[in-house]
Amino acid sequence: MPKFNRRSFLQLGVAGIGISLAFLWEKISFSHNEFLKHKTQLLPFNKNKMVDFFKDFIIVNKKDKTTVLSSHCTHLGCTIDKIENGRLVCPCHGSEYDLDGNAIKGPAYKPLENIPSEVSADQQHIQIKT
Ligand code: FES
Repeated sequence: MPKFNRRSFLQLGVAGIGISLAFLWEKISFSHNEFLKHKTQLLPFNKNKMVDFFKDFIIVNKKDKTTVLSSHCTHLGCTIDKIENGRLVCPCHGSEYDLDGNAIKGPAYKPLENIPSEVSADQQHIQIKT
């Protein structure tokens, strides 16, 4: 039968503290990585423009709602940078999206990603959370 003396008790205690610290470190670094993943960007907002194109985003400003869509086509990722007949058009293979980001002409069939955003109180900027 194994004997527990003061030395083995201390060894167990040190091992327990080490495991606890490793667990805490993992939790802290995971939280930090999650924090870094969510960046915010500030883009200029022109409330008189219905559609405004940026490198990674398209701001769609309707009467009742302002939305931000990803400008990356869901077919192969080309940047959508023009509007024709009220539709967002991909220059690469001609996919078309409505102003809500829904694919209405292929080859893309998935909608554009809707990006969480908020218009500033002075309506000069739009904050985008990616
Ligand atoms: S990348 Fe847009 S249609 Fe192909």
